[in-house]
Amino acid sequence: MIWFLKRIPLLLVIGVTALIMSNCTMLGLNYASLEVANKPVPVPPIDVAAISGRETARDALKTKFEDALYGPWPAGMPVSASGWRVIEPDYLNGRGTLEEAEITIGSGAGARLFHLVAAFPKADAPSPVVISQTFSTNCSVFPDTAVTATNGLPCDGSEMDGVVGMAATSIFGTYIALAPVERYFDAGLAYASFYASELVPDKNGEAQAVMANLGGPVNPTSTLMAWAYGFSAALDVLEADPRIDASRTALMGHSRHAKSALITGVWDRRVDAVIAHQSGFAGAALSRSTAGEGLARMAKSYPHWVAPQAQAYLDDPSTLPVDQHELLALLAPTPVLLGNGRRDVWSDPNSTFRSAEAASAVYKADGTTGMTATGMKDFLPSDALSYWLRAGGHSIVSKDIDAFTTFLSAHFNDPGEIESSVQTADCTLNSQENNAEGGAQCP
Ligand code: GCU
Repeated sequence: MIWFLKRIPLLLVIGVTALIMSNCTMLGLNYASLEVANKPVPVPPIDVAAISGRETARDALKTKFEDALYGPWPAGMPVSASGWRVIEPDYLNGRGTLEEAEITIGSGAGARLFHLVAAFPKADAPSPVVISQTFSTNCSVFPDTAVTATNGLPCDGSEMDGVVGMAATSIFGTYIALAPVERYFDAGLAYASFYASELVPDKNGEAQAVMANLGGPVNPTSTLMAWAYGFSAALDVLEADPRIDASRTALMGHSRHAKSALITGVWDRRVDAVIAHQSGFAGAALSRSTAGEGLARMAKSYPHWVAPQAQAYLDDPSTLPVDQHELLALLAPTPVLLGNGRRDVWSDPNSTFRSAEAASAVYKADGTTGMTATGMKDFLPSDALSYWLRAGGHSIVSKDIDAFTTFLSAHFNDPGEIESSVQTADCTLNSQENNAEGGAQCP
């Protein structure tokens, strides 16, 4: 009893922090519908013949996305980088090295510098790489290493310690900040990431000022575009490194950073695979969907994520000249994994599935499998457009990492190596209510 009384203040702080933090994903108390056949078919319809393999039609569609939603891709914005600074020559008991590079985007006084941290496995041949951008600082992603912390000094411990860190990981999953580098190494992958807010702060007002000052021939007007350009700059640096296989580069982003990962894959065709985990609105979910957060709520809460002109469509998203299945179609034939949580209704797993279904025709016309899943519970990692649904909410958990590495090994490794790593759907979904539909192959 005394033990309990003593801890009341701590429990209160955890409770209040949890409430504040989870408010942005609406607590995840309900389940996404698994019924897709009874929902509207995405509009506008895709002109498959025009989009498939035709640069002019693709460019016209990209321009529509720029004009309506994301603002311009900052083409020609200068990117420069320092060399690598070795932080740990014997990282993870000698399995690899941990290194850091400074990347500068833009020119003049408004240019922005951010730190890219990379874990290179010791390998005989160039490694495929997963490049991530994160909500959390590099110090939280690579705790207890001397990466540069936000105060410019070597990191000491983690910036995700204490009650806030505990609450964040219990709501948003073990890997919401921490990078599971060993698991990527086990899968033969190098891993690199940067803190997106170091490039453009995730703050309305401040973000627009930073973007307007970048000094490019074309400046971005949405953070989603700016962060996407950050992914692209990281790709410049990693593709130039002989330890990386430039033909096997994957982007991974969660939530707002999944939105920017998808955008990068469309505007920078060097990307070889995209993992967009719980990308939601302005990502893979349909803007015309009435489930979940909705584009309007997102763009009102986070106006800096989208271009100013997007506000004009929010009262009636059906007036938008585009929808997100077209963004997925523009990614074809690049392999894409769309990660989802059944309780993450906020990100709208249902319309994400329908979005992929509609884009699949372009993938098929481009000579890939497209999406062969027939229900939201099918996990078919070898599909070029692959959909992953697990139990649980808006988070990055261990099962997600398995799904990511399985998907990448299906697309990056020799066909012979794929078989053993292919897994099926998340079978715990079967114990959830309201799950009669779908086609998971579970016992
Ligand atoms: C909020 C926002 C979502 C976004 C998410 C995230 O919940 O409403 O659109 O995807 O933050 O980035 O975690």
